[in-house]
Amino acid sequence: MATLATRAERAEVAAPFLIEQDWKAYTPEQHATWAELVGRRMPQLRAHACREYLDGFEQIGLREDSLPELSAVSARLAPRTGWESTPVSGFLPPDAFFAMLAARMFPTTTWLRSRESMEYTPEPDIFHDVFGHVPMHANPVFADFLEQYGKVCAGLTDPDDLERMGRLFWFTVEFGLIRQDGGVKVYGSGLISSHGECSKAIAGGCEVKDFDLDAVLEQRFDTGAMQPVLYAVESFEQIYEAAKQAERRLG
Ligand SMILES: [Fe+2]
Repeated sequence: MATLATRAERAEVAAPFLIEQDWKAYTPEQHATWAELVGRRMPQLRAHACREYLDGFEQIGLREDSLPELSAVSARLAPRTGWESTPVSGFLPPDAFFAMLAARMFPTTTWLRSRESMEYTPEPDIFHDVFGHVPMHANPVFADFLEQYGKVCAGLTDPDDLERMGRLFWFTVEFGLIRQDGGVKVYGSGLISSHGECSKAIAGGCEVKDFDLDAVLEQRFDTGAMQPVLYAVESFEQIYEAAKQAERRLG
């Protein structure tokens, strides 16, 4: 497990984008917005999110009534998987993003959407990043997969290969499904954090295909539309293996 010093060195390219989270600056209104966002999502997620997400939510100490303090989340993750939830200023250039993932640092925004855009924001906010993504980082297999994903992408230069790997990210980390307990459960952050996307997926509004690396690498997507096709894995080992296979196949 990397120490903080070696982590920062390994992700030095991301240094200009790292910020401090000023947790005390969040207003009561913002904590109330967070509480409403979490409160709206949890009933559906208790029924339709995968076990690993729900376990991770408890393990990292997320609360319904107040915005998360990222240092506390990272302290909970450290003994489990060594991941940290690292505050950043916004979208990162690809090399910085991949370097951070490879160092088990998840680039995490600290701003929160307003009440006027509860369902959707064009750029990720702390609700999408922490509520949507970070609970999965407490799962050891998913944690290994995400680091491996960052390492593979950090080694690629061909834009076509990077586009293909972007599809792997989209159909797993952002919009992934898993077959579990006789049904299809959600684990991708875009489904976890969006009531509309998740409702469509669990109501049969998307074609659900069995995860297949070759198919996913060629599956185009539209970030601005609801997803017509999603991929379901049998286990998280499957995407870890896929990321390792992608390393052998691309670049
Ligand atoms: Fe995301």
